[in-house]
Amino acid sequence: MPKAIILSGGWGTRLRPLTCTIPKTLIPICNKPVMERQILLLKAAGVTEIVLAVSVMADVIKDYFKEGEKLGIKISYTDEIFPAGTAGAIKLAEDILKDDNFFMLNGDVILNFDFSRMLQFHIKSKAFGTIASKIIEDPSHYGVIIANQNTNKIEKFLEKEEYKPPTGGFVPMPINSGVYLLEPEILSYIPSNKKVSIEREVFPKITEEREVYHYPIEGIWKDIGKPYDLLQGNISLMNDLIQNLSEEHKSLVDYSAQINPTSKIIHPCVIGEKTIIRQNCIIGPNAIIGDNVFIDDNCVLKNSIIYNESYISNNVEIENAIISDNCAIGDNAHLKGIEDKLILLSSYVKVMKGVKIINDFNDYYSVCHHEVVSESLKK
Ligand code: GTP
Repeated sequence: MPKAIILSGGWGTRLRPLTCTIPKTLIPICNKPVMERQILLLKAAGVTEIVLAVSVMADVIKDYFKEGEKLGIKISYTDEIFPAGTAGAIKLAEDILKDDNFFMLNGDVILNFDFSRMLQFHIKSKAFGTIASKIIEDPSHYGVIIANQNTNKIEKFLEKEEYKPPTGGFVPMPINSGVYLLEPEILSYIPSNKKVSIEREVFPKITEEREVYHYPIEGIWKDIGKPYDLLQGNISLMNDLIQNLSEEHKSLVDYSAQINPTSKIIHPCVIGEKTIIRQNCIIGPNAIIGDNVFIDDNCVLKNSIIYNESYISNNVEIENAIISDNCAIGDNAHLKGIEDKLILLSSYVKVMKGVKIINDFNDYYSVCHHEVVSESLKK
């Protein structure tokens, strides 16, 4: 069975300030870190050993996963002092990866698929490399794959700036999903001690010289590059998880959550362990609430994510927002993003009583960790 390496060393700049306190790959998706979800899928496919290529906030990630004992899988780490790029990072794990083919994943993509099917495809097509692809309606934000439509053999890659849609609009195209299955010989294409990108420097070269195929991923795929992707990714996974539950129990509300019967839960919602929802609240649709969150009387919350341990006081309204862990929102506060103009609070933010933030003109209204918001937003 192949081993796997997961890249988890990027800065996550587009998700700041959420990534100032939480490494991007530990960001919860429906209350579980995105990379933990990947590890569990790999484990379900039979993978027993995983290397995490860490750099930025490496200690936080190591502290979370340790040697994998909690997840029942062997986990080790590369020693990357400066971000080595997506190929440089796997070169550092050469000693562990050199003997067999291996999965390689960007640690920031939300998936729910069966890796063993991808392995079967890789073996059957005798590929040097298999790139999991996703067919996207508007591929202009991603690396596009140009391939033979019958065999899926890749002919070339177009980086996002190189892709020109045909006149008359976009046509759905396969894009590089950031999930690969590679033969170990690929490591000889990567120079040591250098920052190297696998997408830009290694894949174009091996595609010219070797057999590289793409494998269309079934099911959901979303990279959490930007805050709006993060919110949408949570909602997509939530719907996917609910769809796979039994007909008798189609709910992602934890049994230990305490919800006052006067409050209304409009599904789909996720509600974590020991979260308390007091009287006359309207929660949902699309509310993803973590563990140990306290929501006081008369709150309205929809289309938003609240991480663990936050405290929401009386009469608060929250919509189109991502609220990180340990935040405190005072009585009568309104935090509303209009459509994709989200509100983002990093960890330990305090919003004072009566503050009104209605964001319909900034791309994002964001607050850094430990800040106190005491004034309403004026245009
Ligand atoms: P942005 O700064 O917002 O672009 O995010 P990012 O730094 O995470 O970059 P990107 O989305 O391009 O990275 C894709 C995946 O590769 C993520 O899982 C990153 O953690 C990882 N990654 C990117 N660069 C490096 C690197 O230099 N070293 C390691 N180990 N991982 C990396």
